[in-house]
Amino acid sequence: EAGAVGAVIYNSVEGDLNGTLGDPDAGVIPTGGISKAAGEQLATQDGAEVTLELRAFEEERTTYNVIAETKTGRKDNVVMAGAHLDSVTEGPGINDNGTGSAALLETAVQLGGSPKVNNAVRFAWWGAEEFGLVGSTHYVNSLSFEQQLDIALYLNFDMIGSPNAGYFVYDGDDSDGVGAGAGPYGSAQIEQRFIDFLENRAGVPTEGTDFTGRSDYGEFIAVGIPAGGLFTGAEGVKTEEQAAKWGGEAGISYDPCYHAACDTLGNVDRVALDRNGDAMAWVTAQYAMSTEEING
Ligand code: PHE
Ligand code: ZN
Ligand code: ZN
Ligand code: ZN
Repeated sequence: EAGAVGAVIYNSVEGDLNGTLGDPDAGVIPTGGISKAAGEQLATQDGAEVTLELRAFEEERTTYNVIAETKTGRKDNVVMAGAHLDSVTEGPGINDNGTGSAALLETAVQLGGSPKVNNAVRFAWWGAEEFGLVGSTHYVNSLSFEQQLDIALYLNFDMIGSPNAGYFVYDGDDSDGVGAGAGPYGSAQIEQRFIDFLENRAGVPTEGTDFTGRSDYGEFIAVGIPAGGLFTGAEGVKTEEQAAKWGGEAGISYDPCYHAACDTLGNVDRVALDRNGDAMAWVTAQYAMSTEEING
């Protein structure tokens, strides 16, 4: 293609042979046989030198949330549980977030459409979390104030089977006093419910993880809805102390394939997913029976 002047598109990466700027993020364009790096000089047929510009090729898409609610239970005291259904473009996203969305589906299927519950349970599979929490933010903001008040609490599940898993529960009361602050009133009680299941029933030690705003609970806590949930770690590195109590490998991240092409079916700690799926189902069912400890 050297010598051609104009824009060329290869596998959704656009190379502009007129340009002189290189985009280091775009890396190397696959050109079906030859590879050219951003900023690389190309010789044209008439001998002139051009420099390759790479631009990420953007497109507009429509994306959806999938919402399902039990027919039974109070509609003005809804227990919500959610997981994002999308992945990054770099990989298939099996741990992030096939684990959370599959466990949520199994919880919904086991619960059924008309369980004997006091409170309705509403499940949400969010779209476009990876593009800025788009689906969950849109959902919360599409509700009236009254509809927001009808949600008793929100439980979030994003990455719950990391291959070098940590057992993290969202820190509802900011008990460590560092990092992001506490969640809305009630979040500490939710945290304790998850700790109770994992530590006392499954026998697994847990640690807190801050509400950093990096997942779909963000807009819920922003409007004052108590929240909690589980997380087994992303790019953070497991310490020696954590490896001693949880197993796995110290000095490497909880998920070495985080946001990468290797986040495939092999990238799941099935024991962690099983325990966290059980915790999800247990805590959801507890609150389906009663949210009295949160809302009185
Ligand atoms: N939301 C992040 C992602 O999908 C993962 C994450 C979850 C990071 C919770 C920190 C805390 O990539
Ligand atoms: Zn992600
Ligand atoms: Zn995620
Ligand atoms: Zn706490």
